Amino acid sequence: MPLLGVNVDHVATVRQARRTYEPDPVWAAVLAELGGADGITIHLREDRRHIQDRDLKLLRETVTVKLNLEMACWEEIVQIACQVRPDQATLVPERREEVTTEGGLDLLAHRERVSEVIKRLKDAGISVSLFLDPDPRQIEAAAQLGADAVELHTGQYALAKPGRAQEEQLAILQRAAEHVRQCGLVLHAGHGLNYKNVVPVARIPGMHELNIGHAIVARAIYVGMEQAVREMKRLITA
Ligand code: PXP
Repeated sequence: MPLLGVNVDHVATVRQARRTYEPDPVWAAVLAELGGADGITIHLREDRRHIQDRDLKLLRETVTVKLNLEMACWEEIVQIACQVRPDQATLVPERREEVTTEGGLDLLAHRERVSEVIKRLKDAGISVSLFLDPDPRQIEAAAQLGADAVELHTGQYALAKPGRAQEEQLAILQRAAEHVRQCGLVLHAGHGLNYKNVVPVARIPGMHELNIGHAIVARAIYVGMEQAVREMKRLITA
């Protein structure tokens, strides 16, 4: 049964829309834990569009489950991560103009920099996951670079129309997942997962952790954070 990492970035997005103090992602994390979250995930972006340095520091002190920091290989962010020491870092690509993370890391193009960052994070005691497209070449590179885990990018699956197109994307994820496990890496997945599409991904053999943000925060607007997390947890552990 996979663990549930709840991404609270969108709570900070609402706060930053007014540059005020509410809603606070730290409160959201407390409620997510009460709802059964196994981890809290945040992305400290270079442009600080949602999560702020203060959020990371407070969450490091208050989160009692796994704290997972999504981050790009920007030098400033690497230094902050090594100081604050989240339990896990998930390395993602980051472009300023993107609305959200748009694809997996390209390890073939950025092998040296990613390798250096993995080493520095691991030396600081942080477990390292790499956010990758379900591509066997990228997965093999992750194993060579010494990552602990791979988070498979489920965005294409989430965008596919239910039916044949979605089944094809699921099959791609299933094959990639098997590859991740054969390479000796821990299997994670995330991006675009919601209450309607999550179950087949949660049931992929060996799935250890799912990171879900948008769907949970969207539902939390109506039913509250604790209940939104509880409902997702129930689905992925059924
Ligand atoms: N995993 C990674 C690496 C991400 O970048 C994101 C988005 O921040 C998520 C998971 C969560 O995606 P969503 O908000 O679509 O659930």
